[in-house]
Amino acid sequence: MVCLGNICRSPIAEGIMRSKIEKYNLLAEVDSAGFESFHTGDAPDFRAIKVAKKHGIDISGIRSRLFQKSDFETFDRIYVMDSGNYNDVKSLAENKTQMQKVDFILNISNPDTNKAVPDPYYGGEDGFEKTYQLLDEAIELIAKELWQK
Ligand code: 4NP
Repeated sequence: MVCLGNICRSPIAEGIMRSKIEKYNLLAEVDSAGFESFHTGDAPDFRAIKVAKKHGIDISGIRSRLFQKSDFETFDRIYVMDSGNYNDVKSLAENKTQMQKVDFILNISNPDTNKAVPDPYYGGEDGFEKTYQLLDEAIELIAKELWQK
């Protein structure tokens, strides 16, 4: 799960996926990362922690880290939140096989639209709830697909 700061959208996505792995008893691992080093080592934004907690998910232990080239090898799928993240990931990719792992997360719930999960960082708390709902809808589909496999 990849966003820019790794303190708002992608930690929420990581927490939701972790809860779905438990819900569906999946053999899967999830992590999140970003491309902006300003918050490296920080816990998620307090509003992200709050919205996740409201939905029964604890993301307070996540620490922001930068996306690394090795993530292409570690993970089978790389979900980005917006086109900026997509281009950032692409800038580190060394071949087409690596980019085949990358998709906009909302393409799962809205196929072929490349829709963005809006960055809630500069807005109010309702933006975080919207982020949560968009991510939950997409990640439920990801988890169901993995479960069916
Ligand atoms: P995120 O939001 O990409 O959803 O974690 C952001 C949070 C902080 C910054 C950028 C985006 N920042 O530049 O500080």
